Amino acid sequence: MKLNTLQDLYVEELRDLYNAENQLIKALPKIADEATSDELRSALEDHLDQTKEQIERLDEVFSNLGSASKGKKCVAMEGLIKECEELLKEEMEDSVKDAAIIGACQKIEHYEIASYGTVCTYAKLLDREDDLDLLGQTLDEEKEADENLTDIAESSINFEAAEGEEEEEAPAAKKKSK
Ligand SMILES: [Fe+2]
Repeated sequence: MKLNTLQDLYVEELRDLYNAENQLIKALPKIADEATSDELRSALEDHLDQTKEQIERLDEVFSNLGSASKGKKCVAMEGLIKECEELLKEEMEDSVKDAAIIGACQKIEHYEIASYGTVCTYAKLLDREDDLDLLGQTLDEEKEADENLTDIAESSINFEAAEGEEEEEAPAAKKKSK
């Protein structure tokens, strides 16, 4: 389909986001199950609930546009999720695994922040105030989720992961592995 106007591009981006959020709904429970820190697991479970609300907001935006909610495969989200799943197949110390989950989820959050930032700008340019309000709420939630992950990482997880590394990396072992 040829995209002739900013409105066409706006709808295209919304479809990408709709599909991205739906992929996330399926992936997040599996990622949360892998977390060993209770704090991290519950943060991911909370974000799953938030993601369901974010999909409902997108449903509202589509309905404001007089169009059916429809996704278009988001290849970027598919790749981010795949990378996370592949990383989690590796054998890891608990705290290292949690640090890996946080890193992967932050990449996902940053993708969403960029995408919602873009559709918010388009909604503003197109004078779609109601959409802007809905999409802006989600953008704020994504930013908060990202900051929350940074807090969890800084307060405990990365520190524990760094300690594990010091204990296990004896100089002899280091030489062998390089
Ligand atoms: Fe989201």
